[in-house]
Amino acid sequence: MIEITFVEASGKERTVTAPAAGDLMHAGRNADIVGMLGECGGTCGCGTCHVYIEQHWLDRLPPPADDEADMLSLSDSLLPESRLACQIVLRAELDGLRVQMPEVQG
Ligand code: FES
Repeated sequence: MIEITFVEASGKERTVTAPAAGDLMHAGRNADIVGMLGECGGTCGCGTCHVYIEQHWLDRLPPPADDEADMLSLSDSLLPESRLACQIVLRAELDGLRVQMPEVQG
C-alpha cells in the first residue's frame, strides 16, 4: 500500500492509502475525493479526473501519451502540472504523492 495526499479545491487535505497497483483516479474515487469524477471509468475519454501534480512528482511519471495530452488540451484549467489521474499507474515509488484537485472539474 502507498499513501497519497489529495488536496481538494477547498484546501482540505486528505491522506489515503491505496494499493501500489491500479490507477490514481480509482484511488481518489474510492476515497470520495471531492472533484474526482472519472465519468468515463478510466478510458481517457472524459477529462473529469484532471489533477495537478507537483513537478518533482511529475518527474517520476512517464510523460502523457497522445490521447491523454489531447484530452487535457480541452480543459479550461490546463496547467503545466496537469495530468489525468486515470492514466497514472500507482506503484511503490509514488508513496507520498501529493495531488491537487482543480477548482472546476469536467
Ligand atoms: S476517467 Fe475519464 S479521462 Fe480519466
